[in-house]
Amino acid sequence: MKKMQTAIVGCGVISEVYLESIRENFIMLEVVACSDLDKDRMNSTAEKYGLRPAALEQILADPEIELVINLTSPAAHYSLTRQALEHGKHVYSEKMLAVEFEQAAELCRIADEYGVRLGCAPDTFLGGGIQSAKYALEKGLIGKPLSGVISLSRDYRVYGENLPHLYKHGGSVLFDMGCYYLTAFASMLGPVKRVSAFGTRTEDSHKVRRIGSRFFGQEITLDDCNVVTAILEYSCGTLVTLHLNSSSILNETFHLELYGDCGILRLGDPNTFGGAVRIQKPHNDEMIIPFSHGFQEQSRGLGAAEMAWSIRAGRPHRAAKEMACHVLEIVHGVLKSLDTQSVYLMTTTFEKPKLLPEGFIGKGFWEPEEESALI
Ligand SMILES: NC(=O)c1ccc[n+]([C@@H]2O[C@H](COP(=O)([O-])OP(=O)(O)OC[C@H]3O[C@@H](n4cnc5c(N)ncnc54)[C@H](O)[C@@H]3O)[C@@H](O)[C@H]2O)c1
Repeated sequence: MKKMQTAIVGCGVISEVYLESIRENFIMLEVVACSDLDKDRMNSTAEKYGLRPAALEQILADPEIELVINLTSPAAHYSLTRQALEHGKHVYSEKMLAVEFEQAAELCRIADEYGVRLGCAPDTFLGGGIQSAKYALEKGLIGKPLSGVISLSRDYRVYGENLPHLYKHGGSVLFDMGCYYLTAFASMLGPVKRVSAFGTRTEDSHKVRRIGSRFFGQEITLDDCNVVTAILEYSCGTLVTLHLNSSSILNETFHLELYGDCGILRLGDPNTFGGAVRIQKPHNDEMIIPFSHGFQEQSRGLGAAEMAWSIRAGRPHRAAKEMACHVLEIVHGVLKSLDTQSVYLMTTTFEKPKLLPEGFIGKGFWEPEEESALI
């Protein structure tokens, strides 16, 4: 199968993780070029990974490059993805598709119009942890999922000192971390019907005090709520409580749980590929369920690789633009509900992605190709 020539745009923190993982795990993706507005970052990434440093225009004009992986800061996603789609490139975008819901919906329309693929998700949802949880749910191990809990506490005052987009609209906790939890549940439960939320913004701005930070001394304003609670009603009937607090302590806590009529499922950290999944059945101690799926270790690039194989084979890819657009609408539904003090009715929907094939181990595939684990 012909490899897919790929360019990475955005040579920041996550690009290195992507490049290492793609090199190790995904032969389908042949990364040939990288680009960044910050020339030093672009050149050092190019040198380290043997890539061609290139301006965006050069990438877009190169007919050999079929796929652009967008790893820029959230505010740049829309314009960059749009340009790439309009130049006939397939695009895989890191979470989220765009900052505004209307922009994401427009990108979906443009991808359809130009007949190219658009994929987006935190691709951890394809990892062994969440796939095993989805498998357990679909096998009926907890029965009907009646309710669920999403909860995360973090300290963005610390993380944001190196990644100031975390203070900005589009990068705040609902977008940046909420998407891991919302994507995990979207892939397991399907679409949300209604959203009702409360939230607060506990501080107006933050002064960067980390010595050595590129942003030392800067005063950065907080755009969005940093403490959010909401109720999500899924179309399948599940009621989920959402709680996100990005001004808590650095010792992160999280809960991602589904309560069914004959069991409880506790997922691992959706920001990882191999979080252990626990099940509780009546009259039994809680136990860890065995992984049914591979990709339990760092596998960034999995979503893009799965999309590339799907393009070659002409089948739909799992990190579908419709699911990503829906997840972004949930986030905006929360913000709208806060603003209007009313229940937000969702307007988009999507097909739940199929499970990856079960039974693969380690990095998720046997020789000679990873496709067998991604069909
Ligand atoms: N850091 C993480 O752990 C992590 C994990 C998963 C996903 N992500 C996502 O990946 C993306 C990048 O995150 P990061 O942590 O690497 O951020 P970062 O700030 O370290 O890097 C972003 C890079 O994008 C570049 N950039 C911005 N606008 C650009 C444009 N128009 N054209 C070219 N380059 C541009 C910046 O110069 C910067 O080098 C974000 O969407 C983030 O949500 C980050």
